[in-house]
Amino acid sequence: MRVIDLRSDTVTLPTPAMRQAMFDAELGDDVMGEDPTVNRLEAMAAARLGKEAAVYVPSGTMANLVCLLSHCARGEEAIMGHMAHTFLFEAGGSAAVGGIHPRTVPNQLDGTLDLGDIEAAIRDPNNPHYPATRLICLENTHNRCSGAVLTPSYMAQVRALADRYDLKIHLDGARIFNAAITLGVAAAAVAHDADSVSFCLSKGLSAPVGSLVCGSAEFVREARRQRKVLGGGMRQAGVLAAAGIVALETMVDRLAEDHANARRLAVGLASLPGIVLDPARIQTNIVIFDLAAGAPPAARVVAGMAAHGVKMGVVGPRRIRAVTHYGIGADDIEQALTVAKAALEKSPA
Ligand SMILES: Cc1ncc(COP(=O)(O)O)c(C=O)c1O
Repeated sequence: MRVIDLRSDTVTLPTPAMRQAMFDAELGDDVMGEDPTVNRLEAMAAARLGKEAAVYVPSGTMANLVCLLSHCARGEEAIMGHMAHTFLFEAGGSAAVGGIHPRTVPNQLDGTLDLGDIEAAIRDPNNPHYPATRLICLENTHNRCSGAVLTPSYMAQVRALADRYDLKIHLDGARIFNAAITLGVAAAAVAHDADSVSFCLSKGLSAPVGSLVCGSAEFVREARRQRKVLGGGMRQAGVLAAAGIVALETMVDRLAEDHANARRLAVGLASLPGIVLDPARIQTNIVIFDLAAGAPPAARVVAGMAAHGVKMGVVGPRRIRAVTHYGIGADDIEQALTVAKAALEKSPA
């Protein structure tokens, strides 16, 4: 049975060209700044994101943590959405490691934070009862908001607010290229108003490992130190970075296919009885949908689909997530819809 794995775009495997590039990679000691392949990837990443510099780190989680540690000291506050990946799914690292106080404001359905909510969360620096606000964190695309895209004009409004209060902006751009493709702009335009940006090579771009932190040369110098603090300095990391170079060169434009497949999946799912989903909300490669009252619970539907080779993720008692990616074709979407329909019919409520 062919397994159609829609749990995440992190399940993607390296392409043959990536494996070859890894085999051929020129290597050196990256902690000494001497791995030519890592240096090339970092230069490419900085150029693509329109920033002065970049540093390669092992994961998206470490990329975000390095950024928060570089922006905030112990006891200082970072404003972020209540559904931010950094808040929900990064093991509380900024608090555990950096003593950074997360201050959440509600994420709107479109992934944004209301500007009034952000402003209301900014602390009065003259009141000694409060931690000092340092940072606003945004996420683009927004994972838990079904891959929603923040627009450059929204980002510019947050920038203006941040400047009024002398705050920095960190953008969790794990899927920034998905945002850029949907917006029809360069990734640099999406990153323009952020002081720091992280992005992942091992999601839709299909590389096996790695993320980049991008920002000013001064910021990246500090980020490199924080990477070392976390044990993220890797020696002959070019063997991994080589795949990242291929990812940036060959895997960005094809994300449009994943978006088309996600839209196809969403339209099909929305037509099934028991599923609550507005396909118009699906802008990139993440489809989150709810099960109506009377439909079976998510765990049962997901188990029913998995038994027939279609894997999706349970993200709430009545909520399921499916993510399209490299290796999933239009035929797979048709098959997934057939299996989903059967699972809904067969699983008793
Ligand atoms: C928006 C977002 N940020 C950060 C991460 C963390 O990436 P990693 O799994 O490489 O640590 C993820 C992973 O799914 C994500 O979706």
